[in-house]
Amino acid sequence: MAIVDWRCTPNIAINDPLLMVGMPASLTAATGMDALTHAVEAYVSTIATPITDACALQAIKLVAEYLQPAVANGENLEARDKMAYAEYLAGMAFNNASLGYVHSMAHQLGGFYNLPHGVCNAILLPSVCEFNVIACPKRFADIAIALGENITGLSALEAAAKGIAAIRTLSASIGIPTGLKALNVKVEDLKVMSENAKKDACQLTNPRTATLEQVIAIYQAAM
Ligand SMILES: [Fe+2]
Repeated sequence: MAIVDWRCTPNIAINDPLLMVGMPASLTAATGMDALTHAVEAYVSTIATPITDACALQAIKLVAEYLQPAVANGENLEARDKMAYAEYLAGMAFNNASLGYVHSMAHQLGGFYNLPHGVCNAILLPSVCEFNVIACPKRFADIAIALGENITGLSALEAAAKGIAAIRTLSASIGIPTGLKALNVKVEDLKVMSENAKKDACQLTNPRTATLEQVIAIYQAAM
């Protein structure tokens, strides 16, 4: 369960890339994919605005260009700097537009198995996007463009699929496991985790409403 309140919100945040140089590659990869998830979920949120859209799209562009170099060399200060901006912009987007099923489902994996938040998001993100795409294919086509994909001549749905494939390729290239099985997630836990995910506040702004069976199916698709 996510706990959100102004009483536990910092007054000041120091977002200094120099402080991130010592982060191991795996943490850089996981937190970078968390930032990408914040931006994607905010961009397709039911309460997105032109302001959150601007933040989200710029965050996606920066992640697409700078996450791999930041993972490859933690001392690449340009990559660290641009990822700090990406994470901050994605934060501005999702603090105003909220999130979706990736986060509501990832929270359950973190709670059940004590798994890293960013890794859970990264694995769930493509499967949730595939479920959501029919709600707003044009938005997912915009995400494909922000990820650097050439969508010339493609329909919105074809472009969206290209963007989702690009997310999978990015994840794999930085060492994120391709499925939940690799994290020892158990099939017998999927039903109760899905029930909890449907109660998580993040799912309120997901662009497509899922039944319990559909949430279970998304987990299964990500296995
Ligand atoms: Fe997150």
